[in-house]
Amino acid sequence: MADYDFDVLVIGAGPGGYVAAIRAAQLGLKTACVESRATLGGTCLNVGCIPSKAMLHASELFEEAASGKLAKLGIKGTVELDLETMHAQRRDAVKGLTGGIEYLFKKNKVEWLKGHAAFTSADTVDVAGKSYRAKNIVIATGSSVTPLPGITVDNEAQIIVDSTGALELAKVPGHMVVIGGGVIGLELGSVWKRLGAKVTVVEYLDQILPGMDGEIRKEANKVFKKQGIQFKLSTKVTGAEVKDGKAVLTVEPSAGGDAETIDADVVLVSIGRRPNTDGLALDKAGLSVNGRGQVEIDHDFQTKVPGIWAIGDCVPGPMLAHKAEDEGIAVAENIAGLTGIVNHEIIPSVVYTMPEIAGVGLTEEQAKERGEIRVGKFPMMANSRAKTNHEGDGLVKVIADAKTDRVLGVWIIASLGGTMIAQAAQTMEFGGTSEDIAYTCHAHPTHSEALKEAAMAVQGKPIHI
Ligand code: FAD
Ligand code: NAI
Repeated sequence: MADYDFDVLVIGAGPGGYVAAIRAAQLGLKTACVESRATLGGTCLNVGCIPSKAMLHASELFEEAASGKLAKLGIKGTVELDLETMHAQRRDAVKGLTGGIEYLFKKNKVEWLKGHAAFTSADTVDVAGKSYRAKNIVIATGSSVTPLPGITVDNEAQIIVDSTGALELAKVPGHMVVIGGGVIGLELGSVWKRLGAKVTVVEYLDQILPGMDGEIRKEANKVFKKQGIQFKLSTKVTGAEVKDGKAVLTVEPSAGGDAETIDADVVLVSIGRRPNTDGLALDKAGLSVNGRGQVEIDHDFQTKVPGIWAIGDCVPGPMLAHKAEDEGIAVAENIAGLTGIVNHEIIPSVVYTMPEIAGVGLTEEQAKERGEIRVGKFPMMANSRAKTNHEGDGLVKVIADAKTDRVLGVWIIASLGGTMIAQAAQTMEFGGTSEDIAYTCHAHPTHSEALKEAAMAVQGKPIHI
């Protein structure tokens, strides 16, 4: 250790990096974490998962009251939007959680090196003019917004914004155009729709939510349309101009054809995210990135340079906080000589709209390609709790191997889909079957009974439909 400043130096304090640093310190390794942001927690806590969920939660409650849904339950009164307070509670949530990570760093004796890290060799990085040598370096630099060529995001001006700008809008736009019908577009589009904006989603592909099960994508599209979100599918944005405080977008069919213009008060550019690997001077460490800007790793999260590891959004795989966190734990355990494993086949994903859209494992399309399957479905409308709570939109779908009955994938559209999917992930992690779910006693009345009934449908014998 004499030559080294640290056993482990983690670059980036997002859910990947801060978790890796804490776990490494818990395992007795002398650990530092470099972060250039003023607060810890990365994209997720500062401008991602947490602030978006704060706005989704508050806007959902507002919409329930303002639309008369609560009046139907006998809760009457007029409501008024106080957007400033809504933003303040979002900032408070972020402050509380990012401060919490700082507390955890102190508690676990992780040293926070403030500044931007760049490699000077395979075991040395420069941070704020100082050089640090570490036995192990973990790259956890995350990702940032993918720009759309020809369209300039200016979050200050609040006309053409990215997700960070869309969280901070000072007033509800009259018309918001969302470019990209992915996770961010639907979550943040839902927030502003609920608060009163007209929302149009322009999506390049012929359906929203690429990567999810085909039937779920179609069903989600129907649910969002019913909520009043408008969609222009198979359409690409070719340009945007800001004129008199508004944006004028030029769009045309993805396959080519006549162009048209759309006026918008606010445009949200949400066409994906790309890894943060520029500015790290990877070449000085003997590393390079692949065609997608990602750092390539092996099963143990090791790069091709011994002692350099990488995790989270900057490596291949889904860009999700829980995937980054699990990789953070696993990489620290591997560095400590233990066996850290992440099962990348079973990473749940959730879109936190209302209803939530959740999935884990294979889509029906992927499962069919691999062999014979059996599929069981159950509509939320037939689930007593969801129906009672007026949350009947959606369904649960269980995909099982026709021969072994092992669960291959579960897809859910339901108000509590994000919570329900954990049971599916655990069943799959344990190699469970649809019969295992069907014969597990589920509390009544709960939304989770819909998962049991969908599993019973795989067996051919649901009770309530
Ligand atoms: P990041 O969280 O991006 O953290 C990387 C950190 O490294 C950053 O703080 C950055 O400042 C720092 N850094 C980068 N380079 C350097 C350097 N050279 N020196 C020092 N520091 C550096 N995922 C979910 O699972 N659930 C959600 O609900 C969800 N909601 C989201 C909502 C939005 C609006 C967005 C944008 C993302 C959301 N995500 C969500 C995705 C999630 O935020 C990311 O998957 C997650 O943050 C990735 O974690 P990470 O540790 O790999 O990187
Ligand atoms: P995304 O990859 O989810 O969706 C981008 C969408 O934009 C796709 O549907 C794509 O077809 C479309 N698109 C691409 N180019 C286009 C163009 N020129 N015109 C029109 N449409 C175009 O990316 P998004 O929503 O920006 O999110 C980025 C990442 O952040 C995701 O990978 C996601 O994993 C993560 N995230 C996760 C959340 C969650 O877990 N709840 C919430 C928010 C973000």
